[in-house]
Amino acid sequence: MSQEFKNHDMTMMFAIHDALRRELERIARITARVDEDPRHVLSTAVGWELFKKFLTIHHTSEDITVWPVMQQALAGRPAELALLDAMEAEHAVIDPLLADIDAALADRDSGLERLGGLTDTLHTKLSGHLDHEEGEALKLMDITMTKEEWAAFSTEQRTRVGEDARRYLPWLLDDMAAAKLTGFLANMPEPLRTAYETEWRAAYEELDIWGARTGSTAR
Ligand SMILES: [Fe+2]
Repeated sequence: MSQEFKNHDMTMMFAIHDALRRELERIARITARVDEDPRHVLSTAVGWELFKKFLTIHHTSEDITVWPVMQQALAGRPAELALLDAMEAEHAVIDPLLADIDAALADRDSGLERLGGLTDTLHTKLSGHLDHEEGEALKLMDITMTKEEWAAFSTEQRTRVGEDARRYLPWLLDDMAAAKLTGFLANMPEPLRTAYETEWRAAYEELDIWGARTGSTAR
């Protein structure tokens, strides 16, 4: 998928997007449950907190370090600017949706009725956005952003993850196909790879982010 990119390494971008898609599927399975109140499952799962946190970090980093520098570089090119506007607009609907879902989770009366529709909308909007970004915006990022700008985006994201790297890395790699995982780890700085392999991965599995091991996640 990344062969079309000439300048920047998109491995991390695709990994984040795939992790978000994976979690959207898990959230959809939980909200489709009838044997237990999905409000309880979702509001008590570490998985929901991690999903919100890492999604927000990713989008905020793009909002700060990607779209504005591209807008400057592409001034006077209406089609490209329209695509950037679309990226920002697609991001802007996600935060209110997360807030609405949290409100539904906390609403004992009518929250359950609203939850399914809201998580369906989140699924549609976020999947649509990720596809749109991969289909059109990444190519434009690749040819527009300088090496320094691309590095600034990576740094922004890494700084925002900060101490949560110990959760973020295994979350990112959760469920990644074995061959891909091997390649991914091979390109990772040695201290990070060692931390992941000797400590972080096991701690993450212990977290059981959707409560699957206690029977709280639908199969
Ligand atoms: Fe992205």
